[in-house]
Amino acid sequence: MEQINEDKDRILYKVILIGDSFVGKTSLIIRFCNDTFELNGIATVGIDTKTKFIKRKDKKIELQIWDTAGQERFRALSKNCTNQMDGIILVYDMSNIASFKSIKMWYNNLKETVDFKKVGIILVGNKCDIENPQVDHKSAQEFCFQHGLSLLESSAKSNTNVSEIFSSIIDIMLKLNDKTNLKRVNSKLEQISQVKEEQLKKKNKKNCC
Ligand code: GTP
Repeated sequence: MEQINEDKDRILYKVILIGDSFVGKTSLIIRFCNDTFELNGIATVGIDTKTKFIKRKDKKIELQIWDTAGQERFRALSKNCTNQMDGIILVYDMSNIASFKSIKMWYNNLKETVDFKKVGIILVGNKCDIENPQVDHKSAQEFCFQHGLSLLESSAKSNTNVSEIFSSIIDIMLKLNDKTNLKRVNSKLEQISQVKEEQLKKKNKKNCC
């Protein structure tokens, strides 16, 4: 993914990472933004944001990445932010089955605040570097199939599939944008043809004796 400087005609996308505490949300963001990894990360308090400028498919993108705290006491706070987002990255820890079971809860919570037709969502199984994972690929794929999501297995530690997570969510958001723009163009074209029809009717009335 190419990085760019600030620009006026860039598209701003807001993306949030959600999931249980300790699944590696902050680590994925730090790996993506700074290309570093710390084995003893500090739990996020509340919400943190980072911005990265990216060029993807000839589009200049300002990616605002929101990092949420997975701890229960901060859940209401992260829930309140989801309605402002263009993209949501749901994260579980492949070495922790409980964090995968929680994904259902996180996903159901989103239903209250998010219009799924307008917001891109992907599922990420992090810590794929750990041997003998507790969450098998098939179960995660089944969940994705049920809900029409894409699945990526990543590791912030070994830098596996980290940039792919952000490329995927950007591609989904760009596609959704295209659809919205197409709808806008179509409704404008409809309005124009309605106006033309009315003008033609008026003209015909005038010409009529
Ligand atoms: P909260 O802020 O509490 O919600 O946690 P978080 O989801 O942001 O997790 P964080 O990034 O702080 O990572 C938690 C722990 O998992 C840290 O000790 C990280 O070093 C470790 N970790 C993160 N990603 C990976 C990974 O891909 N592989 C391995 N082995 N450990 C990881």
